[in-house]
Amino acid sequence: MSFSFQISMTQDELKTLVGQAALHYVEAGSIVGVGTGSTVDKFIDALAASGIKVAGAVSSSVRSTERMKGLGIPVLDAAEVQRLGVYIDGADEIDHGGHMIKGGGAALTREKIVADLAERFVCIADESKLVQALGKFPLPVEVIPMAAAQIARRFADLGGVATLRAGVVTDNGCHILDVTGLQITQPRAFEADVNQWPGVVTVGVFARNRANVCLLGTAEGVKTLRFD
Ligand code: 5RP
Repeated sequence: MSFSFQISMTQDELKTLVGQAALHYVEAGSIVGVGTGSTVDKFIDALAASGIKVAGAVSSSVRSTERMKGLGIPVLDAAEVQRLGVYIDGADEIDHGGHMIKGGGAALTREKIVADLAERFVCIADESKLVQALGKFPLPVEVIPMAAAQIARRFADLGGVATLRAGVVTDNGCHILDVTGLQITQPRAFEADVNQWPGVVTVGVFARNRANVCLLGTAEGVKTLRFD
């Protein structure tokens, strides 16, 4: 007779697991780039509890800054830092090439800025975020408010439906459009194109700044996907 056991973990527990696994990429004495979201919150908590003393963190949002300061992790201004070894952040979707949709937490612009400072992007996500092609999750786009209607019309020409995220003003004083109905099969070209549209601050496709590594939380434990 044989028995098989399936350990079922909640999404929250999977986020905790990958938040802890990301500590492996943090060197004592280094400056670490820190993203935004519920998965990153787990990483911040794990870092604070780990006893690893970092020289500081560059944060991608007011939310992460407040959490880190509250836990005694020094936060540095991005302008003080020339290069980061690693940037750790979550994703709303990640494909098998490491391209991502981000911005569910409205922090996409600062996330892309901090990611751009880093040698390596380590994405931490539960397995629900892994997709064949980007686009099922509504694509966040940060826009200058006066351009929102024109940008929505441009997305309509591509077959997308853009909806203004109600009541949200970003850390940069801008608005977010969430765009459904897109299938993003060429993420790098799509990102470059949309970023040229007047009034677009940042499109939530991370292709130029794609992940180098993804720590994926699964029922079988943390799987490491490498993209370089
Ligand atoms: C915030 C982001 C987050 O990384 C993304 O929304 C994933 O969040 P969570 O870890 O809460 O699922 O891009 O702008």
